[in-house]
This record gives sequence, C-alpha cells and structure tokens, in this order.
Amino acid sequence: LRVAILISGGGSNMVTLVDSMTGDHPARPCLVLSNRPDAGGLDKARARGIEVAVVDHRPFGKDRAGFETELQAALEAARPDILCLAGFMRVLTAEFVTRWQGRMLNIHPSLLPKYKGLDTHARALAAGDAEAGCSVHLVTPELDDGPVLGQTEVSIAPDDTPESLAARVLVEEHRLYPAVLRQFCTQFRRV
Ligand code: GRF
Repeated sequence: LRVAILISGGGSNMVTLVDSMTGDHPARPCLVLSNRPDAGGLDKARARGIEVAVVDHRPFGKDRAGFETELQAALEAARPDILCLAGFMRVLTAEFVTRWQGRMLNIHPSLLPKYKGLDTHARALAAGDAEAGCSVHLVTPELDDGPVLGQTEVSIAPDDTPESLAARVLVEEHRLYPAVLRQFCTQFRRV
C-alpha cells in the first residue's frame, strides 16, 4: 500500500509514520506533501529519501478550490492508497474530503469528541480536566468529527502548562499514529 503524508510544520508525526513503514508493514510512504514551502518536515522527509511536494496555499488566498485542485494533482501523481494528515493545518472542503473519505486519517491532540479545533491543551487545562490525550480518526467533511480509530489518555498534572502537556501528548501521538495506521492498512488489505 502507498501512503501519502500531509504536513504543515515540523512533521514529527510524519517522521514516526515514515520510520514505522518498514519490514513486513503492508505500506510504504510514497509522498510527503506540505502546504508550506518552509515546513521543517520537508528536509526530514528528503533525508529519508521520500518524494516530497509543496503546494503553497498562500497564492490562492480564499480560493480553497484552486488550492485543492493543485493538491489533488500533486497527490494523484504519487498514486497514494491512503492519506495521513499529520500536523496539516489547512481545513479541507467537503468535496475534497468526500473524494478521499474512508482512506484519509488525521491525528488530533485531544480526546475526541472533546476539544475539536485548536488550542486543545489550553482548553483542557482551563476546564480543569484530569486527562488530556490524542486521537486518530477517519477524516469526514466536518472538522475533527470522523470515527475515532484509536485514542491515548494522558494524565494532567497540577502544574501543567499547555506546553508541558503538549510535549507529553506528542510522545503518545508518536506511538498511537503508527499503531493505528498499521492496523488500518491490515484491514484495508482485507477489503
Ligand atoms: C501535533 O500536536 C499534532 O497533534 C498536531 O500538530 C502538532 C504538530 O505535529 N496535529 P507535527 O510535529 O508537525 O507532526
């Protein structure tokens, strides 16, 4: 199976996904794509010999459809079976998502369905929650709303800040995403 990974920044989740697709893993990374030319993850992908692509969203302004036309073309060139959003910070239209629905995963730094959207750790702290965490879900047209494929809980400490909590959750993201992707690929092959 061919997996394309979409990033916007450092790509730490992308790195752990790429490094997990070895040996008897049914998938291999076929592309790392970023909407930002300066994304730190691009060099990490290049260093691993992965094909990279950049579709800068900024020239398109509010023209989401125009951006997604370029995005789709770059993806089709790499022929992925599965898309993994990993720190990808652009909202995708329902049309694009529908085209990939059922084979597009995302990692979100909260215990969905709690705290969809941004600033998840600050919101969990402000709410006085005892636990935070991360979720891998199938992407559907509504933001951060699809079926959850896996979750990891992380206890919140009294002195936690959004940054300290994010750092602990990120460690669990790096464990959860590869595990969920492998399971998903296995089932994907069986269909
Ligand atoms: C992570 O917190 C992830 O949950 C969110 O983007 C952040 C950065 O991810 N989706 P990465 O280091 O770019 O993979």
